[in-house]
Parts: sequence; structure tokens; C-alpha cells
Amino acid sequence: MSLLFFKRVLANPVQVGYLVPSSRFLTHKTAKFIDYSRARTIVELGPGEGCHSRRIARRLGDHSKLILIELDPHFTEHLRKQFSHDKRVSVVNANALQLSETLDSLGISEPDYIVSGIPFTIMERGLRERLLANIANSMGPETRFITYQASLKISDREDFDLVRRERCLFNVPPLHVMELRKSANPDPN
Ligand SMILES: C[S@@+](CC[C@H](N)C(=O)[O-])C[C@H]1O[C@@H](n2cnc3c(N)ncnc32)[C@H](O)[C@@H]1O
Repeated sequence: MSLLFFKRVLANPVQVGYLVPSSRFLTHKTAKFIDYSRARTIVELGPGEGCHSRRIARRLGDHSKLILIELDPHFTEHLRKQFSHDKRVSVVNANALQLSETLDSLGISEPDYIVSGIPFTIMERGLRERLLANIANSMGPETRFITYQASLKISDREDFDLVRRERCLFNVPPLHVMELRKSANPDPN
């Protein structure tokens, strides 16, 4: 585990969520959910110190974009240094609660993929539901939402339909990787 991750967990345990970054087994599994031949724009929420971002960037096409949206300024700074040489990657210090506004400011609508490491299933319900409603609002019919979570039920709302899922046991804690699409009948509230 990186020292930075450990420090940020101590500083903000609820926001960071888990005690250690994702394992290489989880980053490998998650990266396989992405079809790189069609991925022009990938948005990653809560990249932390960038373990999934690095794996995605390795497979990303030359003309594709990876947008990293991270709330913690220390992680953001670390990501900016790490990807300063890579023109395909943009790092934004922002709250995923402002996802639509952030994507608008970058001229992006309906990204191909939204990958999220935000620990929805262990956060306060009201915040979780607002975050997920914002994600659903930023998705088009072809956007795929990929998230790795402790529980298969991430929301009380009906905003997403499950496309597929896999379990990763070799991670602390073991997590489900899910691919979701925007529901044909989203929650009206
Ligand atoms: C469980 S850590 C995952 C870090 C990394 N993706 C990994 O798999 O190791 C959750 C990350 O989400 C970030 N985060 C939490 N709430 C956020 C929000 N509302 N907007 C953007 N990032 C957020 C945290 O700062 C942290 O970097």
C-alpha cells in the first residue's frame, strides 16, 4: 500500500472508504469490463492514488480520453504528477456530486464509460442516492457504469439495470464488480 493512501485513510476514513487500495486482481478484473475498441471517453470517479487509472491508461486508444475526477486534493495532486506526460488523461479536483457540471465544462456528454471507486454501499444513504442520481443523469443509453462494491444492491432507486457482474475474492474486502446501464424506466423522483 502506498504511504499516501494510508495517510488519506487516516485523514478521512469515511470518504476514502476502504483501508487499502484495490488489489491487482480487482484492477485487472475491472479493466476487462471495458471494450477499448469503442471507448472514446472514460470517466473515473474516485481514482484515489490511480491503481485502476494506470491499468485503463495502458489499454486506452491513442485518440481516447480518460477523465479522473477526485475529491481529495492530495490524491488529485499525486494523479496530476503521475499523468502529466499523458495527453489523453485529464485530472479534475471535483466532487462527483457536480458530475454533470464538470463534464459540461469539459465539453463531454454521455461518456462511453463511467468507472467508480466511490464506496457507495458504506456511505450515508442520502449522499449515496444523490451521487447515484447524478451519475444516472450523466449517462446516455450507450453509457456503461462500472463499479466495484461490497454489496450487489447499491441503491434504493431504480436508476440502473445490471448488465453483468463478477466477484473478486482477492481484494480487501472482497468486492463485486458490476456493469450497469441506465434503466429504461428510471426512478421519477
Ligand atoms: C475506496 S477509495 C478507492 C480508490 C481507488 N479507486 C482504489 O480502487 O484503490 C474511494 C475514493 O473515492 C474518492 N471519493 C469519495 N467521495 C468522492 C466524491 N464525492 N467525488 C469524487 N471522489 C470521491 C475518495 O477520495 C477516494 O479516493
